[in-house]
Amino acid sequence: MQTFIASNSKEFAQQTADFLFQRFVQKPDLIVALAAGETPLLPYTRLVEKLIHERVDLSRCTFIGLDEWVGIPPDNPGSCAYFLRNVVLDPLNIKSDRFKLFNSQAADLQQECRNMDAFILSRGVLDAIVVGIGMNGHIGFNEPGVSAKKYSHVIDLDANTKNVGQKYFSEHTALSKGITLGLQTLLDAKQAILLANGARKATIMRKALEGPLSIEVPASIMQQHANGFIFMDEAAAGEL
Ligand code: GLP
Repeated sequence: MQTFIASNSKEFAQQTADFLFQRFVQKPDLIVALAAGETPLLPYTRLVEKLIHERVDLSRCTFIGLDEWVGIPPDNPGSCAYFLRNVVLDPLNIKSDRFKLFNSQAADLQQECRNMDAFILSRGVLDAIVVGIGMNGHIGFNEPGVSAKKYSHVIDLDANTKNVGQKYFSEHTALSKGITLGLQTLLDAKQAILLANGARKATIMRKALEGPLSIEVPASIMQQHANGFIFMDEAAAGEL
């Protein structure tokens, strides 16, 4: 693992954006999976600005959504799809055949998982997967206790995730399941990039990076990745 610690949140966003920018420059047909959430908002904003400013050709890149709340439609501002469309895909004018987001309203969610895995396989393997970390150590919606051998799957959400997840919604929203790329998807990706900022993530980042590799802290899987990169601000790194 390579770890980058920025002195503040702005610098964290810029460092992350610069790193991701290089991925797009070095590989014009980059296949990248992206998390939604508060953490990547500023990093993606800086990245998008730079990609537009430098006129990087993204016509051969493929974008994948990491996860989604089951049953929440893409026009709900709290959905991961809404976030990714507004922050990344629409500003970059990514064509619909160059991205895939989970349809968490699909009648057959198992089929939706198979479709996602087949889509990734059809393009090759993920070059990069960009993830955040939940307060309980989850990655995407890979909740504590999940098998590390899974690709896309549907999972019952942790009580903690349902609670914390309310922050994305303007009114109380019933959250029960998530649909997500799996930890095996992350392990197979050529590069895995974990982002964390803010003091509230300090304890879980210590567990993830310095605790034992344990399925009870799914983000500790980063320790096992052959090509893992961690971007944090000083606050998130405060307990390391
Ligand atoms: C959410 C999402 C994750 C996200 C994580 C951290 O529930 N399922 O994909 O990375 O929790 O979110 P945030 O960046 O808002 O702290």
